[in-house]
Amino acid sequence: MTSLLLTNIGSLVTNDPARGDLLGEIRDAALVMEGSRVAWVGPRTEAPAADGAVDLGGRAVIPGFVDSHAHLVFAGDRAEEFAARMTGTPYSAGGIRTTVAATRQATDEVLTANVGRLVTEMRRQGTTTVEIKSGYGLTVADEARALRIAGQFTDETTYLGAHVVPPEYADDPAADYVSLVTGPMLDAVAEHARWVDVFVERGAFDEDQARAILTAGQAKGLVARVHANQLGEGPGVQLACEVGAAAADHCTYLTDADVDALASTGVVAGLLPAVEFSTRSPYPDARRLVDAGVTVALATDCNPGSGYSSSMPLCIALAVREMHLTPAEALWSATAGGAASLRRTDVGHLTPGARADLAVLDAPSYLHLAYRPGVPLTTQTFLAGRPV
Ligand code: NIG
Ligand code: FE
Repeated sequence: MTSLLLTNIGSLVTNDPARGDLLGEIRDAALVMEGSRVAWVGPRTEAPAADGAVDLGGRAVIPGFVDSHAHLVFAGDRAEEFAARMTGTPYSAGGIRTTVAATRQATDEVLTANVGRLVTEMRRQGTTTVEIKSGYGLTVADEARALRIAGQFTDETTYLGAHVVPPEYADDPAADYVSLVTGPMLDAVAEHARWVDVFVERGAFDEDQARAILTAGQAKGLVARVHANQLGEGPGVQLACEVGAAAADHCTYLTDADVDALASTGVVAGLLPAVEFSTRSPYPDARRLVDAGVTVALATDCNPGSGYSSSMPLCIALAVREMHLTPAEALWSATAGGAASLRRTDVGHLTPGARADLAVLDAPSYLHLAYRPGVPLTTQTFLAGRPV
């Protein structure tokens, strides 16, 4: 196994709570990788020798971003829908069906290439772990296909057969589609998915339907996560807490009882501010959640409808500017928070033993992620110890 020393790091974010501050920041630092793992971190002057060395010239190093919510398996785009929204047409769940139609018609090669393009885009910006959902197939074969393709790019694959009721079921009782999602479709996808998700919303799935889908997935060994409280207050967050989901994502409209439930159960609140940006909606109140003791993850929700951004730095900038997180809290939520959302202990931090997933920023510290919005600061991404 060869080792590589990264030295002359102006500021190293470790996310190691033992170092005192939230980010476990080390100034004038060094880091040694051995194979795919972090072997050592500390002050530059104390660094051990390694097989190779790279002088980073004072640049900052942060853990790779953990994007815990993305919908990447789709064809086509909805740029016209976005343009209409900017002149006043509200976002609704119905637009999902446009992408379902395009995705069903696409070949495996087109879908795979599209996911590959978006994952490459993410890696260039410093994302090293991404969750990828199905949800634009909505037939047994198309959902299984989406998850097979997603599995070529990540271990964090999520079955979202309950994204919306597809058009061919529009005239049937909703229970018929729920039976498909909890029966034959679940059987076909279970081996390809780690997670099960439901869009709990008016126009999508109600509380009872969502409970049936999440518990059916759990019975097959999948772990629950929920699209909750995106377009209005509703039962999603409470349901996520009731079934022991890893995460309740969106959390744009929360009651005090929702915030209490998240805090007391430890369900991670996934905040997706690129969606509020792209739908011109009020941002979720991240400050309220953090102050209540809720674990917050920031993620892109990259999808062709509600927000087509793959940029975790954009999410950080929005979380600081619009949602009142400190730059340190926002970076923590985009790394360690994402890892908590995905129940991963090997990523989201740079301490010995962690996977050597990191981003080098062309900036003296992580503060520049929010301070220089829209600027591509990531100059190098390492994934499991290898530059990508
Ligand atoms: O997370 N809310 C449901 N699903 C996506 C949007 C999907 C779409 O509009 O195509 C979301 O925002
Ligand atoms: Fe989503």
